[in-house]
Amino acid sequence: MVGTRKSLALVIALAISGVAAACGPSNPPDTAADKQQDTAPAGTGTQDTTTPPAGSKDPQPTPPATGAPSGTAEAPAPKPGKGSTPIKESKMLEDVKKAGVNLAKTTTLDKIPLGQKKKLMPLFQKALGYKDCQGCHVEGDFKKETRNIKITRGMWDHYVAAMRDEKGGAVFCDTCHEGTPKNLDRSDRKAMEKFMEDEYEHKLTRADKKDNECSTCHGDAMELKIIEKLWGIAKN
Ligand code: HEC
Ligand code: HEC
Ligand code: HEC
Repeated sequence: MVGTRKSLALVIALAISGVAAACGPSNPPDTAADKQQDTAPAGTGTQDTTTPPAGSKDPQPTPPATGAPSGTAEAPAPKPGKGSTPIKESKMLEDVKKAGVNLAKTTTLDKIPLGQKKKLMPLFQKALGYKDCQGCHVEGDFKKETRNIKITRGMWDHYVAAMRDEKGGAVFCDTCHEGTPKNLDRSDRKAMEKFMEDEYEHKLTRADKKDNECSTCHGDAMELKIIEKLWGIAKN
């Protein structure tokens, strides 16, 4: 059936817009309940990060991971195994500059003039590996709020604007995503913590020059659900 794929996409789009509408304005209640963290054995970094477990690895030049299909994937499946996407130098910084955006001075996404913002859109799409704009937007209404729009604002404000790479240079969406929305392989908690330490802690720095620690992104209470709890963006 020729129409199947298209109608599936439509169904998904409708589902997303439905959800977005349903849980739009209401904020999730305060997190009182969910505080308990499973006491992970190894210092989860909750207290401080002054104790990097012995011998932090020598910087391995990570092999160019599976040549990510440029923007063709419809729903990029998470890579098998310990497939979290390592930090890479952004390849889009020139394009960002061409869009008129200076990442060294940027604050929040909503403050960027519309004309520049529009030029960032194809870059977002590509960095995330979405097939089209509907990766984040509902068809026919670019103003309509969606979960991915809200997440993108968070990613921009907290990471692109506030973080830098090892050398203090700019980061962009592809620094962490490299063509996939699901850049974390959460199947192994220990591996996840190691990955976070090696990549998100040690290979990123902060624009404000303070030490980058787990708490930079997870907060002092080491909240693991950043998107849902710290940023207050409801789950689908
Ligand atoms: C990764 C998510 C993402 C993708 C993919 C994406 N957008 Fe956006 N788009 C956003 C966000 C976030 C905003 C709102 C920014 C803000 O806060 O002002 C936005 C806003 C817009 C706006 C401005 C709407 C207004 O307020 O008037 C337009 C137009 C737009 N996008 C077009 C596109 C087009 C065209 C594409 C495909 C080439 C696209 N977007 C792909 C996230 C995305
Ligand atoms: C510091 C690294 C980092 C940067 C920079 C970053 N992201 Fe993310 N992003 C993540 C992580 C980690 C997740 C969670 C992915 C997962 O669940 O596998 C995520 C999730 C998302 C999601 C939700 C995907 C889904 O399907 O659940 C969207 C949309 C997204 N990011 C968009 C962006 C955009 C757009 C940019 C650039 C403006 C960006 N991100 C920059 C790390 C980053
Ligand atoms: C630059 C930001 C950043 C830093 C620094 C960072 N993380 Fe994360 N971490 C993320 C994001 C984003 C996610 C995905 C959050 C979400 O899905 O809401 C995540 C997810 C995780 C998860 C998976 C949670 C789950 O439920 O699947 C673990 C575990 C984790 N981080 C541990 C750590 C540890 C330990 C450190 C310090 C060594 C650390 N992180 C440093 C951004 C960061």
